[in-house]
Amino acid sequence: MNLNTKRFVSGILFVSFFVYSIVIYTVGTRVDKGAGSITDATKKGKLLFQEKNCIACHQLYGLGGYMGPDLTNVMSAPDKGPIFVRSILQYGTERMPNFHLTETEIDELMSFLNYADKTGVSPVKKFEINYDGTVNWKGKDEKGN
Ligand code: HEC
Repeated sequence: MNLNTKRFVSGILFVSFFVYSIVIYTVGTRVDKGAGSITDATKKGKLLFQEKNCIACHQLYGLGGYMGPDLTNVMSAPDKGPIFVRSILQYGTERMPNFHLTETEIDELMSFLNYADKTGVSPVKKFEINYDGTVNWKGKDEKGN
């Protein structure tokens, strides 16, 4: 390969790198983060979630403990949803402790879980990977999970 060909190839690689980076950091990562839905209750709910160590048993966005189910999409799951979540938080189950939460605390936790639901899908395999390595935001699968 002569010098001009090498320069040409390096030039192409250099330009491709920049174009690819720009696409990845703009269009490729454009996802509705649900930022509009963050309220004071959501923030308090997040703190409660940390304080009560829910993540020790549950996962959010696929990460966390594995004793209980993933909570990312529990608020919009057709067979679960807000009424189901409220009753679990209020009374616990045989396997999940009752945290004796107040009504306000339950509302705050549910607001945080709603936020998680809007900002992520778990398990991640519901995403589609495009030919250029970017990920398609599918939101929900056919069943609405
Ligand atoms: C000691 C472990 C543990 C902790 C801590 C815990 N959970 Fe759970 N949770 C469970 C288990 C286990 C289940 C499954 C309940 C069952 O099948 O009886 C569950 C179920 C749930 C469900 C229903 C999920 C579904 O898809 O069916 C919700 C919602 C939930 N937990 C929320 C929370 C929140 C919020 C916290 C923190 C305040 C929390 N949990 C803390 C163990 C835990």
